[in-house]
Amino acid sequence: MVYLNGNFIAKNKASISVMDRGFLFGDGVYEVIPVYNGKIFRLKAHLKRLQKSLDSVKIPNPHTKSEWLDIFNQLLSHAKTDDQSIYFQITRGVDTQRKHSFESLTPTVYIETNPLIPKPKQVLEQGFRVITQPDIRWSRCDIKATSLLANTLYAQNAKEQKMEEVILHRDNIITEGATSNVFMIKDSTLYTHPTGVNILSGITRDLAMESAQACGLTINESTFTLNKLLNADEVWISSSTREVMPIIQIDGRTVNSGKVGQYWECVYEHYQHLKEASE
Ligand code: PDD
Repeated sequence: MVYLNGNFIAKNKASISVMDRGFLFGDGVYEVIPVYNGKIFRLKAHLKRLQKSLDSVKIPNPHTKSEWLDIFNQLLSHAKTDDQSIYFQITRGVDTQRKHSFESLTPTVYIETNPLIPKPKQVLEQGFRVITQPDIRWSRCDIKATSLLANTLYAQNAKEQKMEEVILHRDNIITEGATSNVFMIKDSTLYTHPTGVNILSGITRDLAMESAQACGLTINESTFTLNKLLNADEVWISSSTREVMPIIQIDGRTVNSGKVGQYWECVYEHYQHLKEASE
């Protein structure tokens, strides 16, 4: 069961016009929200970021907060398991002809939910391998836009090389991952790229910093170089579907002699408490 423009229908029955600007231009924005134990995790923060994305691309928000919540809950009532991720996207809508400029249209709303299966701690404790690549994306990475061509190419590259993620650098500065935020720990300080136009302000990024602080790390939202990343004590990536993941190898070079760090262990536990305490 999926949601499309007011209807709850089977996924294979859901279709949109070829004149939808999401199809023609990738002209839309999206969000991914985790659901744990049937409870939507950090809904407010996700809807706030959605509003920011919509405002940035001049698409009107088609729903109020309570309408969104109502639609999500109706969809979730059909889900078979209590842990889900909600994917929802809003495109500018269906045009009459293909032209880059736009008029005011009725936005297209598509929502699906998928089972969310967090990796067990024993699996996470093995650590993950990543590669790095130059960040070729545009300069509005703060907008959670559906036009993700660069990100899909990175993800495919990672998949072909059996890597968890591609970490991106712009002018030698680490920005974020292709689908995640990036952190490095050095001498009990956590560094992560400051928010702004070059990264997506991750909801999990905020939670990771909250957990890191609770675990005794000093938080420093400032940039760091690729060389600093390669010499870090610990490296993590974060996203709504991955939570906080420890990285033990970057471009074939080990981090912390290939062992998952003590701060990650603490942050993992703290993050699980945040999930359990959510309403
Ligand atoms: N991606 N940076 C990028 C480029 C991302 O695509 C994502 C998430 C994040 C982390 O954001 P958050 O913590 O709010 O999930 C950072 C989602 C999961 C996706 O595209 O499916």
